[in-house]
Amino acid sequence: MTSTHQAPLPLAGGITNYTFSDKDFSTIAHHAQQDFGLHLTPAKRDLVYSRLSKRLRQLGLSDFAAYCKLLEGPDSNAERMEMLSALTTNVTHFFREEHHFQTLRDKVLPPLISAARSGGRLRIWSAGCSAGQEPYSLALTVLELCPDAARFDIRILATDVDPVIIARAKAGIYDIEEMKALPQQAQNHHITNRTAKTFEIGKAPRDLITFGELNLMQDWPMRGLFDVIFCRNVAIYFSQETQSRLWTRFAGLLPIGGHLCIGHSERVAGPAKDILAAAGVTTYRKIGSLDAVKT
Ligand SMILES: C[S@@+](CC[C@H](N)C(=O)[O-])C[C@H]1O[C@@H](n2cnc3c(N)ncnc32)[C@H](O)[C@@H]1O
Repeated sequence: MTSTHQAPLPLAGGITNYTFSDKDFSTIAHHAQQDFGLHLTPAKRDLVYSRLSKRLRQLGLSDFAAYCKLLEGPDSNAERMEMLSALTTNVTHFFREEHHFQTLRDKVLPPLISAARSGGRLRIWSAGCSAGQEPYSLALTVLELCPDAARFDIRILATDVDPVIIARAKAGIYDIEEMKALPQQAQNHHITNRTAKTFEIGKAPRDLITFGELNLMQDWPMRGLFDVIFCRNVAIYFSQETQSRLWTRFAGLLPIGGHLCIGHSERVAGPAKDILAAAGVTTYRKIGSLDAVKT
């Protein structure tokens, strides 16, 4: 059993070098995969070491074997969530990958909003929404096209596996620097409690969104269909097989004609590819029924 990193030695700057065996790496990779779908190949070993070393230091542990014990012990759920936060990034911003919002404005939302105005329902899901900039950008786009959206059956669901990040998303308070990314109209009408340092998302966009915790690897409680699903820069952490299953599950929640938007370095592959046709950059439109594909 090789160990890239040696026994705990204090290094310059107070950094400790922790023992990290192949077995420790396998244990961490196993839990990351089983609990969250994260695919940690041996090439990620150094990254795992550096990201989790910080956690060992915070917890005052002497080596990775002790950390693995914690991951496998009773009450390990909270620590597994800390592990996920350390191994993935929550990076996001308002109107990230703007082309998706342009496609919504130009093509996708106008007929859906007309239908909602005539008594239909419009549902959008931001899956892996991080600190909320994505669902608020969706809400602001809806409000741009339909300022009286509150009068109709229009809802946005925003979910993430991380309860801490969901609490931040619900709070809807952001650094003032982030405001620049909002369209002028949104800055004029949908911002509140602006200070020198922060601003808050206003009531109209907030009221369109329901936030909730949801691990995409587990059962999904939602039963109705979504006209638009955003799941961007989340599947990048998953194995090809897990990604394939995820695309198929999303396809199952879209009506024919519904849209799936994914991150810039992600691609729909596997069985769902037959019914999710490319409809723009990293944008897919459902063109057939799930029964038509082998799952
Ligand atoms: C890089 S952020 C992407 C945020 C936003 N979608 C965007 O593109 O700006 C990735 C998010 O995926 C979430 N995530 C990772 N694994 C997940 C899982 N198994 N289920 C749900 N969310 C997950 C993380 O907590 C994180 O907030």
